[in-house]
Amino acid sequence: MKNSTARKIVRRVEYTPYPWILDHVVLRFEIGDDTTRVLSRLHIRRNDACAPAADIDLDGQDMELISVSLDGLPLDDSGFTKTSEQLLIHDAPASCTLEIEVQIEPLKNTTLTGLYPSGDFLLTQCEAEGFRRITYFPDRPDVMSRYEVTLVADKARYPVLLSNGNSVGSGEFEGGRHWVRWDDPFAKPSYLFALVAGHLSFIEDQFTTTSGRNVTLRVFVEPENLDRCDHAMESLIHSMKWDEDRFGLEYDLDIYNIVATNDFNMGAMENKSLNIFNSKYVLARPDTATDLDYQGIEGVIGHEYFHNWTGNRVTCQDWFQLTLKEGLTVFRDQEFSSDMHSRAVKRIRDVRALRSRQFPEDAGPMSHPIRPDKYIEINNFYTMTVYQKGAEIIRMYHTLLGEDGFQKGIRLYFQRHDGMAVTCDDFMAAMADANGVDLGRFGRWYGQSGTPELKVSSSYDADAKIYTLHLSQVTPSTHDQSNKQPLVIPVAMGLLSKDGHALPLRLQGEQEGTGSSRLLVLDEEQQSFVFEGVEERPIPSVLRGYSAPVKIDCPYSTAELAVLMAHDSDAFVRWDSAQLLSQREILGNVSRLVEGAEPVLAPELVDAYDALLADLDSDPGLVAEALALPGEDYLAEVMPVVDVDGIHAARKFVKSGLANALQQQFLQRYTDMCTDQVYSKDPVSMARRSLKNICLSFLLETASGEGLAEAQLAGSDNMTDTLAALQGLVWVEAPAAETALQSFEHQWRDDALVMDKWFSIQASIPGEHAVGRVKTLLDHPGFSISNPNKVRSVIGVFSMMNPTGFHTADGSGYRLHADQVIALDSLNPQMAARMTGAFNSWTRYDENRRNLMRTELKRIAAVQNLSPDVSEIVSNAIGMDKNNK
Ligand code: PHE
Ligand code: ZN
Repeated sequence: MKNSTARKIVRRVEYTPYPWILDHVVLRFEIGDDTTRVLSRLHIRRNDACAPAADIDLDGQDMELISVSLDGLPLDDSGFTKTSEQLLIHDAPASCTLEIEVQIEPLKNTTLTGLYPSGDFLLTQCEAEGFRRITYFPDRPDVMSRYEVTLVADKARYPVLLSNGNSVGSGEFEGGRHWVRWDDPFAKPSYLFALVAGHLSFIEDQFTTTSGRNVTLRVFVEPENLDRCDHAMESLIHSMKWDEDRFGLEYDLDIYNIVATNDFNMGAMENKSLNIFNSKYVLARPDTATDLDYQGIEGVIGHEYFHNWTGNRVTCQDWFQLTLKEGLTVFRDQEFSSDMHSRAVKRIRDVRALRSRQFPEDAGPMSHPIRPDKYIEINNFYTMTVYQKGAEIIRMYHTLLGEDGFQKGIRLYFQRHDGMAVTCDDFMAAMADANGVDLGRFGRWYGQSGTPELKVSSSYDADAKIYTLHLSQVTPSTHDQSNKQPLVIPVAMGLLSKDGHALPLRLQGEQEGTGSSRLLVLDEEQQSFVFEGVEERPIPSVLRGYSAPVKIDCPYSTAELAVLMAHDSDAFVRWDSAQLLSQREILGNVSRLVEGAEPVLAPELVDAYDALLADLDSDPGLVAEALALPGEDYLAEVMPVVDVDGIHAARKFVKSGLANALQQQFLQRYTDMCTDQVYSKDPVSMARRSLKNICLSFLLETASGEGLAEAQLAGSDNMTDTLAALQGLVWVEAPAAETALQSFEHQWRDDALVMDKWFSIQASIPGEHAVGRVKTLLDHPGFSISNPNKVRSVIGVFSMMNPTGFHTADGSGYRLHADQVIALDSLNPQMAARMTGAFNSWTRYDENRRNLMRTELKRIAAVQNLSPDVSEIVSNAIGMDKNNK
């Protein structure tokens, strides 16, 4: 590659501890008009566990070095060596004080890492390697120090000055400047450092922990958003209570601050006692935020709060261990949401996301284990695999050990490692030791990439009443790894009779049966489980609750799926059976369309939907999930060669067929769900709105739909109903759509978050006109390529959620997208790399599209000074070529 920025590969096996210990870090920020001076005093001593090092090796990027002194004596050029990414202090004594002064230019920083501007305030983002853009420092998570931070700035321009820990002093200088000092009593890695300076308003509340600590809680936002913070605060209080009740974990400081920004690369960041949030995960009012937004806020507030223990008190030894904190914390936030709302609905949504976004990642050019072995740019490894698949691995510990065993393991983990930077192996050892079990093979989940396939077959001996379930597993080879080993796969299961009754389960060798649901553990390539006393040939219900992150291959007949869907005791299996039924229908029609045959709608599916709509006993939220057809992204994932247009047409045919065959039933459920007089955000109301709006989306395929949507839009008092109606009208290209979009824009043009929705709706309109439409959106005054939420709403939605638009056969979607990636790369490499990921599945399409995508990938790769972030993604993607020939 002609890329000169080529960076070297970092490997997990090359880890060595840092040879110095930094007990205490004193920082002073002199925030000026354009530049900021950062003075640091580092108290350093040798790490006796390591071979003595002659130099102190510090990371640093994009800053001007003003001075360095060692034990009070200024160093000249011979005392240190400076490169573009490092500062080496030579001949350091066994213990010393190093003082460094640098100057940085936050207002010129467009990367949204390090110290950068947002609106008219300044803030930091240090994970993973942003602290090195603030000052020279060993910017690695295993160097943990106590921080004392003094912030100095003009009081009128920067009235609020925040950092980690407790505020321990403040005062004023002549000339309008003021200072605030913060002290964080907990040692932490540099990635958890944060500061915020500017004109912000806040709401405040209190929380008293079980042991009686009074904690002040504050949510800081730009003044105009003060009326949208209540839900975030409520979610924080719920999180604090939940972590005490379920995990026995209490908060450990007297203050907890949250700051919302419109300019953030990710969802939020768990900096010790000073969380920084994408405003999308803080701000909510019924008329501006949907139910999904409300749930997202609750989940992310929980997630960052839970990091205080899983991530901050115990952190990662190196970035290869990222899933140690992220997989575990995602598992914790999933459990929190499950305890607050419907567990089954939460599980279904998480599985849907895993299948449609993590499975493709695991099969593509960036495939990696949850604990990767190598990276070029660590920011490219904040992935669905590390987070969501990582959470599935934690869930499997929970499934195997039970809640009590799991909590025992967690307690031992904190007993052993509080205040330390550790590894995934340490976590596994705590789980094993606390339960006196050998988790040996289970550890393979950390090191093996790819989605395992679980094959289920069975045989029945009617005379002996013996039923044998054969389970086998295979993990296909992936781009990063070819030889796969068998994994430990917990399979929660049961057996159903033909009429849907749960059958008692007794495994060969057992004296008595043990209920109708149990956990089998597959840990070989294949194993058979023999059930005795089985009175009839049963229907197996496997992977209840989705007990392992695998693909299931079980030869169900349509009739069997219908039984499972209607009668299984497990909500996940009921949902999954419905999905499989619709998936078969849609894919069958894709083939028919390819062959030029007429598409057909199977009466079994119509009957199944009829039954779903007639189910008045189940949680409406669950019914809504079951009605939702598999998404185009997941259908693409299960096809050998993706037929974008075929999938879209066949799915639309099935949806419209069901809607028209069952119009009355959809209408009835829709009307039943419309009786709520005033908006409420309680879980029952949210579930009812989700059923109502999924019915509306089907009804929009019928003659009565547009009228209903228009009426809903006109009468709505909340964003969930407004958006569902607007989106529906726009997606079916109803005559009323244009005016509806205009008046929405007129009402919300000054509201960044609401406008994101307006952009997304339009960027996702399917079909060949999408490219032109997206070009218009990119020129809209509300769009900005330097704002990640806007980039995600237009460029992200177009390239990842609008398959027929992006994959237009003439390649214009690809060209447009590559142009955006290239433009973005010079401003914000992290975001550019994420957007580049839209090309990751390029080898899965027909030859014409493959060629067009390869051309764009090569065009991106050829850009001068391409960032290592994008370079890593494109070179891996191009590398898929070999695999495919
Ligand atoms: N650590 C954050 C979280 O998962 C995510 C994040 C990573 C945010 C990197 C910013 C930068 O909660
Ligand atoms: Zn996290």
